[in-house]
Amino acid sequence: MSDSGASRLEPFDFVLFGATGDLSMRKLLPALYFRHCEGQIPDEARIICAARSQLTTPEFIVRVTAEALPNIKKNDLVDAHWQTFLQRITYLSIDATVTSQYQSLADLLLGYEDRIRVFYLSTSPGIFAETCRQIKAAGLVTPKSRVALEKPLGRDLQSAELINDELANAFSESQVYRIDHYLGKETVQNLLALRFGNVLFEPLWRRERIKDVQITISESLGVDGRGDFYDKTGALRDMVQNHLLQLLVILAMEPPASSNPDAVRDEKIKVLRALKPLQGKEVLKNTVRGQYTAGALDDSPVPGYREADDIPDDSTTETFVAIRAEIESWRWKGIPFYLRTGKRMEQKVTEIVVNFRSVPHSIFKTVGESNTPNRLIIRLQPDQNIRLRISVKAWGDHMHLEPVFLDLDFNETFGKRQLIAYERLLIDIVRGNPTWFMRRDEVAAAWQWIDPIRQAWDESDQRPDPYMSGSWGPSSADVLISQDDMTWANND
Ligand code: BG6
Repeated sequence: MSDSGASRLEPFDFVLFGATGDLSMRKLLPALYFRHCEGQIPDEARIICAARSQLTTPEFIVRVTAEALPNIKKNDLVDAHWQTFLQRITYLSIDATVTSQYQSLADLLLGYEDRIRVFYLSTSPGIFAETCRQIKAAGLVTPKSRVALEKPLGRDLQSAELINDELANAFSESQVYRIDHYLGKETVQNLLALRFGNVLFEPLWRRERIKDVQITISESLGVDGRGDFYDKTGALRDMVQNHLLQLLVILAMEPPASSNPDAVRDEKIKVLRALKPLQGKEVLKNTVRGQYTAGALDDSPVPGYREADDIPDDSTTETFVAIRAEIESWRWKGIPFYLRTGKRMEQKVTEIVVNFRSVPHSIFKTVGESNTPNRLIIRLQPDQNIRLRISVKAWGDHMHLEPVFLDLDFNETFGKRQLIAYERLLIDIVRGNPTWFMRRDEVAAAWQWIDPIRQAWDESDQRPDPYMSGSWGPSSADVLISQDDMTWANND
């Protein structure tokens, strides 16, 4: 196994509920495999995969080989490591909501009470609360236990609080790891490094120097195969309440006094609480929701949202959201933060664009173009880079300014396999480092801002605006941003 310098973990038992599900096969098991390859997982550690299907361990291994293995690129696969990784897995057939079924799990864990124990709930959010209740009732919560849950945590503040109450009955807050996988992405963590590891940006990071901020998470995928979940959820709950708001708060937070988990999370929550509430008419003025219709992607025709078998013909669920948000603080007062996300858009891109103000007085305006304002672009995917647009004099015999980019490409700079977000998060859970997980009050503050938006939409008789698959969303999103004389950065 490679010695990458990754620190070895203490022995642990990792109990993965929902082990036969899509997330386990696509992300979680591959993530554990990669950490196994790095030699970070001690020999004694066990991976206990639990799900309802009646399977033996060898039968489950056959499924893992069929469903998880294809998610590991050929170049990253070392057969010998894969075989030793599989030997760590024990499968347990269990209905997580039925008390009598916990005996076999209890038997497996008996005698290992001193170890770190992770209960990872990769199940339907509808059974989070019951599963925690059952784990506690079976006497499986030890001082070194942690529970990890996937988003979405509830559908609104009230339902999130109910889940959080149940969690609190079984685990202390320091044992709870609420996952937003965006927080495990390298470039998201790099935002913190960029802002607080350099002296350059901080003096500029304020309303006096920044004109607006745009955060886009666009996806070319539709909701294929997830229609049932998605139609009840929609883009506001699926993407804005968590991923988009998390990017916003990391970008906008005040410098924490240290990298201590609560120092960071205390600053993040202040931003959520400072978001200007959008209610009633303000919602309709400052938000756009859309739903994709048939169109084309990569020259191939794709059907519209409501044409899928698992979506009702009259669905009003939004697959696109754009919001003009403001943060009411000295640093940000009056600066628009545009948030945008959508399915079936022209490209898969996650990008933060910080537009700086123009120079206060341009001495060059008589010769050619005047200065193009500075722009910082932080791209999270598909490629990971940071680009800073500056104006320079183009070569020639007169003073003509041209915008050019200072480019930092992380692939070129670091040139090694990028960890998938879950690798970092899973290791942090075992290590007991909650910095990149959402605290209870953070989740509540995010819902508090989101709920009135949902409510105003529900009460309005407007349907989501249609947009063609393969486009950049409905034209109303362009109108929204044009109110501030701006355009989306991809349209520049
Ligand atoms: C998930 C959403 O949380 O994030 C999905 O439920 C979305 O709808 C996905 O497709 C996007 O994640 P990523 O890492 O591919 O940008």
